[in-house]
Parts: sequence; C-alpha cells; structure tokens
Amino acid sequence: MKIAGLLKYIFMVFGFWVIGLSPAWAQIEASPTFSYDTRHTISEIMSTMADPAAWVLWNPTEEFDDDGSFVIPDDDDFWNNLRNKAVILGEVANLINMPGRVSNNRREETAAEVVLSAEEFEALIKEQRPAWEAYSAALTNIAAQYYQAAQARDASAYDWEGGLGAQMNTVCASCHLQFWYPK
Ligand code: HEC
Repeated sequence: MKIAGLLKYIFMVFGFWVIGLSPAWAQIEASPTFSYDTRHTISEIMSTMADPAAWVLWNPTEEFDDDGSFVIPDDDDFWNNLRNKAVILGEVANLINMPGRVSNNRREETAAEVVLSAEEFEALIKEQRPAWEAYSAALTNIAAQYYQAAQARDASAYDWEGGLGAQMNTVCASCHLQFWYPK
C-alpha cells in the first residue's frame, strides 16, 4: 500500500471513530429525521446541472477528425468525466420529480413575456402529468445510454447524427416546448 493510500485508510478507520465521539456528531444523531429539501427550483437544477452536463455530452472535445466526428482521447480522466456527466443528467430526472419541487420564481423578472408564469406551470404539470413523466423517463433513458457509452468507451455515441446528441436534444426541447414556453 502506498503511503497516501495508507494515510487515507488510517483516516477512514480512526477519523470516523474520532468524529463519532465529537459533540457535533452526537447532535446529528439526536435529530434523526430527514425530509427532502426542495428549496432549489427546477430552473436552478436545469441551469446548474442539466445544462452544464448536457453541453459536455454534446461537445466532449473541440477536436474533430476528417469526417467531422469528435476525436475523443483514450484517457481515463476523460471518459470518467463523460460518465460523471451522465450520472448528473440521470439524477436531474429524479430531482425534478421530487414531491414539493417547484418551478422557477425568478422567471417573472427575467422573461415573463416568453415563458409561462410559475402558477401556469404548476397548473400545467398537474394537468399533464403523464407527459411530464414521459419526458422525465426519456431523460433517464438518454442519460443511461450516455452512461453505458462512457463505460464502453464508445466514441460513436457522441456523433451528432447516429449518436445520442440529436436524441438528447429532442428530449430537452420537447419537454421545454410543452412545459416551459407558453402556447
Ligand atoms: C421533464 C421536462 C424537462 C426536460 C427533459 C428538460 N428540461 Fe430543462 N427545463 C424544464 C422546465 C420546466 C424549465 C423551466 C423551469 C422554470 O423556469 O421554472 C426548464 C428550463 C431549462 C433551462 C433554463 C434554466 C434557467 O436558467 O432558468 C435550461 C438551460 C434547461 N432547461 C436545459 C435543459 C437541458 C439541456 C435538457 C436536456 C438535457 C433539459 N433542460 C431537459 C423541463 C425540462
């Protein structure tokens, strides 16, 4: 075992034991209930997680070969990053479906004329729940395909045509058309 690995091991075994004795830990244990915290809006989840992850999956590099496909380096860090982005995208589908999750309340300030109001959104999502769930499931599905592609190091998955990029675009855009923009 290398020295860094050994230190990590010592911390994991004894560090937790020390933390276990500290008053802060005792306090956490004394209040064991947990409930979902849904203070962040769908809009925030989209802009902090869905969008950054999707852009990396759409454009994994800036290097192209002659036929316009991305040249993806055969490098562990690179593929791990693509896999991690697929995990984030898959979890976005879970997060936006948590009970109590609300839409954006910032939208009125930003672009009230081009998007639904928060109330309109809440009404729409109640009324058209099956469609919302279908788009969410499609997001889970595309994220799972990206995850598998990263595990298999399948560079063709990142081609726009024939790969997953155009499909993902359809998933994002279809849900936005129905639930983000006014009719
Ligand atoms: C299940 C439906 C659904 C799917 C799928 C979905 N979105 Fe969204 N997205 C929304 C809704 C609803 C809003 C508007 C949220 C609001 O303003 O409250 C939104 C808003 C956004 C925003 C604007 C956030 C802001 O700054 O206010 C971005 C960016 C975004 N989505 C990116 C994406 C990307 C990229 C994908 C695909 C990888 C995606 N979304 C898939 C429902 C979805």
